Amino acid sequence: RYPTEIDLRLSILVCIAISLCGFVATVLLVPVAARYLLRRNLFGRDINKKGTPRGAAKVPEALGIVTGIVFLVVAILVQLAVSFLQYNLTADSDWLVEYNAALACICFMILLGFVDDVLDVPWSVKLVLPFFSALPLVMAYAGHTSIIIPKPLVPYVGLSVLDLGLIYKVYMIMLVIFCTNSINIHAGINGLEVGQTVVISSAILIFNLMQIGASTDLDYKQAHVFSIYIMLPLLTTSLGLLAFNWYPSSVFVGDTYTYFAGMAIAVVGILGHFSETLLLFFLPQVLNFLYSCPQLFGIVPCPRHRLPRFDPQTGLLIGTSDMNFVNLFLRLFGQCTEKTLCIRLVIFQVFSCLLCFQLRSILAGWYK
Ligand code: UD1
Ligand code: MG
Repeated sequence: RYPTEIDLRLSILVCIAISLCGFVATVLLVPVAARYLLRRNLFGRDINKKGTPRGAAKVPEALGIVTGIVFLVVAILVQLAVSFLQYNLTADSDWLVEYNAALACICFMILLGFVDDVLDVPWSVKLVLPFFSALPLVMAYAGHTSIIIPKPLVPYVGLSVLDLGLIYKVYMIMLVIFCTNSINIHAGINGLEVGQTVVISSAILIFNLMQIGASTDLDYKQAHVFSIYIMLPLLTTSLGLLAFNWYPSSVFVGDTYTYFAGMAIAVVGILGHFSETLLLFFLPQVLNFLYSCPQLFGIVPCPRHRLPRFDPQTGLLIGTSDMNFVNLFLRLFGQCTEKTLCIRLVIFQVFSCLLCFQLRSILAGWYK
């Protein structure tokens, strides 16, 4: 028997229940882990509070490790529950292979992120870490490696479907490297790393539900249900972390979190076959990356932190000439508090996701 509509709905409900437990677990564990991390001298200076890092408060760092571990436990429990519910189904078990590969990638990325937080690896090494983490997925990937040519272009290309083969696998790795690093460099003010992840994962969940509702193809629906199995735990565990990381942060998330979140999102885009849509959700990150290129590639000098300047007189942040969105927003829309700046950037993320939905509905016509 193949999974029916009812099976899929039931498994989504189970996933919601377990993910909510994940939220509670994160909220309970973050303060405990924060004490242990501080004891091991894993802390960061809250740079935007005092002007210089020197006098700034010590904030426990790398709390993404809690989110990551709770996420993994939740994701494994979801897998267990779903396979239990569907134990008598004969549907191909490809999804289990891919799901396990996805979890292996995420787990590997959490490990490398934590290593980065503890050892502070150089920037060039940071760039290639996700490459290794993405390998389990590329090896296990059973889906197609072809792209559909938009209708208006078919006469010019001469094909309606183009099989990219190996190039598609290279593209998958590039996507993982992009997603993980682009979240990590769109960061540095309280709440921004988690804030953008919460918005993107919510947008993906809405997109999955829309696709499940609109399609009659069970295979297609299942691809989006799998995305929900990963995005829902990511959303709830991130919200648990946000409770502590929102302004004024009592914990920092660390590269453990930014890499973990980027990897989880990239993996569902690949397995759910919606990586193009995913890149539209990543509009702020894409723009921030493009704008950062001169500094990232050493054409313009790049300091260790590209953060705004704090004005002790007014308590406001002032944009520097560093080329990222945090500073650009301050230069464009005027100086403001750290909290306001974070809210502005998160709202920009929300608008980008709304634009993505709009754009998708226009572009979908090209593929009909
Ligand atoms: C990336 C950015 C860097 C930015 C940093 C902040 C690039 C190339 N690198 O580096 O410009 O400054 O992220 O995350 O764009 N911090 C705060 N407040 C926060 C969050 C972080 O002051 O709300 C500071 C703390 O000192 C914390 C440190 O940033 O310890 C974490 O930096 P880290 O994640 O190690 O920096 P990178 O990812 O290397
Ligand atoms: Mg970082």
